[in-house]
Amino acid sequence: MKGTKINVTGKDLLTLLDYSPNEVAQLLEEAFALKSAQKNGEPHQHLAGKSLGMIFENASTRTRVSFEVGMTQLGGHALFLSPRDLQIGRGEPVVDTANVLSRYLDGIMIRTNSHEMVAELAKHASVPVINALTDAFHPCQALADLMTIYEQKQTLKGLKLVYMGDGNNVAHSLLAAGAKVGMNVTVASPKGYEVDKEILARAKEAAKETGAHIEAVHDPKAAVSGADVIYTDVWASMGYEGEQSEREKVFAPFQVNEELISYANPEFIFLHCLPAHRGEEVTASVIDGTHSFVYDQAENRLHAQKAVLAAVMG
Ligand code: CP
Ligand code: NVA
Repeated sequence: MKGTKINVTGKDLLTLLDYSPNEVAQLLEEAFALKSAQKNGEPHQHLAGKSLGMIFENASTRTRVSFEVGMTQLGGHALFLSPRDLQIGRGEPVVDTANVLSRYLDGIMIRTNSHEMVAELAKHASVPVINALTDAFHPCQALADLMTIYEQKQTLKGLKLVYMGDGNNVAHSLLAAGAKVGMNVTVASPKGYEVDKEILARAKEAAKETGAHIEAVHDPKAAVSGADVIYTDVWASMGYEGEQSEREKVFAPFQVNEELISYANPEFIFLHCLPAHRGEEVTASVIDGTHSFVYDQAENRLHAQKAVLAAVMG
């Protein structure tokens, strides 16, 4: 995972597709260094005196807490900004919000449905904008996922990650992440719930540089054959809760359960970005079983994001 030193100061993180394989490798290396510094009680206040604005238009447990704690550990400060309180929630244009916030803050983190809105915010902001989940991507999650896989497998290149279920933001970010580190990614989804074609094409193009095999398929059992990592996410993401009962029927064959995992590599690990619904996308026996590393994965959000914050705001 060693690469050459990067300079991404001021760069937005909207998707890992915008980062080079070397930049991704360096962010991971820095994330591991920050993790060990924090565990060993070594000072690492790289962002002393700096402020991050965190706009949350959707609920969050992990992202909110890990970003806020991460800024504190880096010696900086994080402000939670709810659209209920911001003027943007009353119709203030994104362009004005971006320009004004850039006069106070050193970075902006945002979670909202519309990826286009985040792209517009980033276009007008003069400080880096970090995507904390849109309908298209969840790059900070994918960096934490890569850390967790590396910790368990001591490599990423050539592994097979199989994502089961909805072709959503998390699936898209795993495609991008795999493409950047040379990890093979198979997304298995029901017909009508596939990953976005354009994002799949961009990931395949990016994978040419690293040799990763990227594919989207429909057969869950064939997909999981030989998997080193099995990953799943909720069947109805934020904004799609109204389709829950319809999705439960369509996604049932994609549940990660004892039968499905029997087709994987016996040493496979199970990951889930959380929040999880036991008995829906994954059984309790799998997510609470010995192959599951979901709490390490959640912890790694903290370390991965600190690496991003230090890199783009430093
Ligand atoms: N995985 C994740 O982003 O969790 P939250 O929605 O709790 O932030
Ligand atoms: N795909 C999920 C991820 C939550 C962290 C959602 O968008 O709701």
